[in-house]
Amino acid sequence: MLRVNEIHVYYDAIHALKGVTFSVEPGELVTLLGGNGAGKTTTLKTISGLLRPRRGNIELEGCALDAIDAHEIVRRGVAHVPEGRKVFPRFTVLENLQVGGYSRSIKSLAPDLDFVYRMFPRLHERQKQYAGTLSGGEQQMLAIGRALMAKPKLLLLDEPSMGLAPKIVEQILENIRAINQSGVTVLLVEQNAAMALAISHRGYVLETGQVILSGASSDLAGNDLVRQAYLGG
Ligand SMILES: Nc1ncnc2c1ncn2[C@@H]1O[C@H](COP(=O)(O)OP(=O)(O)O)[C@@H](O)[C@H]1O
Ligand SMILES: [Mg+2]
Repeated sequence: MLRVNEIHVYYDAIHALKGVTFSVEPGELVTLLGGNGAGKTTTLKTISGLLRPRRGNIELEGCALDAIDAHEIVRRGVAHVPEGRKVFPRFTVLENLQVGGYSRSIKSLAPDLDFVYRMFPRLHERQKQYAGTLSGGEQQMLAIGRALMAKPKLLLLDEPSMGLAPKIVEQILENIRAINQSGVTVLLVEQNAAMALAISHRGYVLETGQVILSGASSDLAGNDLVRQAYLGG
């Protein structure tokens, strides 16, 4: 479904991604692990067209994304849940969800709103509440729900567990697993390696802009390097 081929991405003179290559097959839940500054966010922003690779290319279902703008990439089925959630604080829960469906006709949104509310009953209870007044966990649910309103084939998630209590993290990751099982392909970026490896099929480890390791999540969870660097020994 997604092929990232040898991409090099720069912020002016800073060489953030140094030939990153990986792929995601239809129906998979793939995790991209890496510490702070490894290049995880840069990778997701490049897939969704917010940054451009200076070299290398990205293909979605066999089509090059190089010359396509970010809105069109959403229309082709890629939805991005950004780092730090970025919900619209002065919009209600429902309004945030409606914004997520902007690329589609209003009429077709009802079943997806239903799907989001069944996945996150808390959002249904709070649909008239301003997003800025939600808890961190609820804002994360809303950010994911908003992305689902674009009816994505591929969902990009940037550190959904960041700053949340362990119990909430567990719940959100369960939701992500359920979303994947409903047929949405997922690329999950995490520093929380234990949780991410527990729900994903495969993983890649990113370090200073390069993939240094990849494999089945169960193998990565048992790998010495991963255990030392990301699982606390
Ligand atoms: N807007 C920016 N301007 C300059 N450098 C940046 C910018 N954003 C990220 N970087 C640099 O690019 C590298 C990768 O960052 P990032 O993709 O945000 O890492 P991660 O998400 O894995 O923490 C880091 O060295 C970071 O300092
Ligand atoms: Mg990041």
